[in-house]
Amino acid sequence: MKARLVSLSLVVLLPFIPWINGQSLCPQPDDISPCSCSYDAETKAVTVVCSTVTSVWEIFSAFNEVIWPFTELNTFVMRHNDAIMEWPEGLFGKVTFENIILGYTSVTTIHPSVLISLKDRIVTLDCQTCGLQDFPWDIVPQLTHLQVFYINDYYNPIMEIPQGFFESMESLQNASIHGCQLGPVLANGTMEFHSQVLAKISLGGNEISSVESHGINGLIAHTIIRLWWNDIQELTEESFRPILEVLSTGSGYIDFGDASTGDAIVCGCSMAWIVLNPDFLASIVGTCADGIDFQDLDPEYFEDFCLKTNPPREGDFFTWIHSDRSSTIEGNPRGP
Ligand SMILES: *[C@@H]1O[C@H](CO)[C@@H](O)[C@H](O)[C@H]1NC(C)=O
Ligand SMILES: *[C@@H]1O[C@H](CO)[C@@H](O)[C@H](O)[C@H]1NC(C)=O
Repeated sequence: MKARLVSLSLVVLLPFIPWINGQSLCPQPDDISPCSCSYDAETKAVTVVCSTVTSVWEIFSAFNEVIWPFTELNTFVMRHNDAIMEWPEGLFGKVTFENIILGYTSVTTIHPSVLISLKDRIVTLDCQTCGLQDFPWDIVPQLTHLQVFYINDYYNPIMEIPQGFFESMESLQNASIHGCQLGPVLANGTMEFHSQVLAKISLGGNEISSVESHGINGLIAHTIIRLWWNDIQELTEESFRPILEVLSTGSGYIDFGDASTGDAIVCGCSMAWIVLNPDFLASIVGTCADGIDFQDLDPEYFEDFCLKTNPPREGDFFTWIHSDRSSTIEGNPRGP
């Protein structure tokens, strides 16, 4: 008890005593090497880096065989490591983190209990260039405090997002899921958000060619959606009206990329409904396949050459086709 009181008073005093270096928030460096622990006085954050470990037991013993004066730490980092394939049960012992940052590693398996042990604290799960084969996707929805969720999995695109994956994350700000082959169809219910602070969604490189009307749902007016490096060719009313109706009321927009990202939107009649609505047009970013910026499209042209047909199926969405003033094929007023 006495020891606890002493350490507690240390925390209170720490910020005011310049001669105490942050080490007292961390174990002795030798005890946890090759992991390292540091305290940043400015951000008052404790970061543990285990990038140079050569076996998972070096991480395991750093957390399980060493006494950590404080167990609620801020950030765990492991980058550019080829030695570790698996995060086993109990990896962090009693220690928890707010941010897990994993990049360019060979980790393919994370035991569900490792994420569960973090669930009351974790706000960032950032896994860049992951090769996760056995990632506990069904656990992630329990991480209800997540603000940032980045997964980029080009080397192992085997992922299928469970329905309702994001629904429990009411604090989610930024989500990025890259290279996970979510396409070709982003089906209804795939991206169902439930956060009033949703700032940015990035779904790059997922071979998405079409989006069902409720494939991306629960946006707020300021959400930015990035859809670069996909195969979307047409901005149909059915796919994108529900999104633009929300984003056009605020500063949000959809960024479809441009030639440099290999994105090739055919700026034909199928997107007339956007070009003829200044609010919708202001809420998309990108260029047409022929290099014209969306913002430079001429509404008059679409007015003259396109017409809307009544909703062909259920739903309130129109299909826009060429009027007979256009001699070219449907869907592409500039000719085949
Ligand atoms: C989310 O992204 C925005 C825009 O890039 C950034 O300003 C914000 O800090 C990010 N949020 C978090 C929690 O990192
Ligand atoms: C997607 O959901 C909407 C709204 O519930 C529905 O009208 C539409 O038919 C659905 N689309 C598909 C392809 O199931």
